[in-house]
Amino acid sequence: MKKGSEGRENETKRARSKGQTVAKPSSDVQVDPVTIEAPCGQGGSGGYFKCGNSNGPRLWRNESMRRAKITVIGAGNVGATTAHWCAAAELGDIVLLDIPQAGDMPKGKALDLMQASPIFGFDAQITGTSDYADSANSDVVVITAGIPRKPGMSRDDLLATNAKIMGSVCEEVKKHSPDAVVIVVSNPLDAMVQRALQVTGFPPQRVLGQAGVLDTARYRTFLAMELGVSIEDISALLMGGHGDTMVPMPSCTTVGGIPVTQLIKPERLEEIVDRTRKGGAEIVGLLKTGSAYYAPAAASAQMVEAVVRDKKRLLPCAAYCDKEYGVGGYYVGVPVILGTGGVERIVEIDLTEKETAAFANSVEAVKELVASMAKLV
Ligand SMILES: NC(=O)c1ccc[n+]([C@@H]2O[C@H](COP(=O)([O-])OP(=O)(O)OC[C@H]3O[C@@H](n4cnc5c(N)ncnc54)[C@H](O)[C@@H]3O)[C@@H](O)[C@H]2O)c1
Repeated sequence: MKKGSEGRENETKRARSKGQTVAKPSSDVQVDPVTIEAPCGQGGSGGYFKCGNSNGPRLWRNESMRRAKITVIGAGNVGATTAHWCAAAELGDIVLLDIPQAGDMPKGKALDLMQASPIFGFDAQITGTSDYADSANSDVVVITAGIPRKPGMSRDDLLATNAKIMGSVCEEVKKHSPDAVVIVVSNPLDAMVQRALQVTGFPPQRVLGQAGVLDTARYRTFLAMELGVSIEDISALLMGGHGDTMVPMPSCTTVGGIPVTQLIKPERLEEIVDRTRKGGAEIVGLLKTGSAYYAPAAASAQMVEAVVRDKKRLLPCAAYCDKEYGVGGYYVGVPVILGTGGVERIVEIDLTEKETAAFANSVEAVKELVASMAKLV
């Protein structure tokens, strides 16, 4: 057995000795769960990210053929739902981790999710824990730890609390999963992902944030509702920070190949863009307690899929831009190619004069946020 497999076996033994939820191979034959292949998109699980059957399992860092290991930190609404989408799409083995004060909650959610596996037909080892040792050598770490926005609270109000949480979480990630691709979800996103980069010291390509996939999904949803067409026919792009300064790109928004500007009048399009900007607050206002999680989690899982299946997806993500777009060393939402290495390329496109001004405004807001955070941590 190779070194990586031994490590995983020990983790499995450790988890079992602590009474944690660990999946068993479904057959009676003793099979090392590390070396079996995870089929892609079979049974009821194939449709989530349209993975089909062509992508198959991937070979991780020259170890034996094994499933990807995905750790989700923060087993609250976004974290647990991210685990749910990842499991249903059979993206890999999942560790759902929360603070010790959360008690057995992560174990309970992991066991509950495992019990959905016979129905959806996914094979995955799902472990609930508060011990970072169980997350060791993860390929992807999704960070959702923090407090969510409450009604009337801006994302920026979350800054001080979540920056401290992000710092402590990232120290552990650095220690236990030094080769992971880290996807930050906690808000205020653009500052939290910068903090994750500072604390992990990982290369910027392996630290990125989820915002643009969600914002674009909201925008596409509203456009489909407006036009009464399938969401499949709507392709769109939003750039800039995750917040009120996000930048819609009408020049990159099409409906079945037709520029959206030919189908929706400018004033109405502006209203839809405005609803998208306030999309998070709209959900907070409806839920009253907590913030959105189904779509944020689906967006996070789509990014996990791009990494573990090396899909080379072109997705809008919060990526570290230095010379790119002249940003000068901050995280901002831009189109990237996302694959095994994380952000494999930042795609630079020509912006119109209006888009350039809006993007610059958004970058300024991110810089201010990062400067405020620097005073707090
Ligand atoms: N980027 C986005 O698009 C987006 C969208 C929605 C929510 N969010 C953000 O995601 C975060 C989580 O939202 P939620 O609705 O899941 O909140 P939640 O309260 O349901 O879950 C947060 C979890 O984090 C845990 N936690 C707190 N400190 C921790 C630590 N040090 N280590 C590990 N776990 C810790 C809590 O115990 C809790 O279970 C919030 O910051 C929210 O604003 C971001």
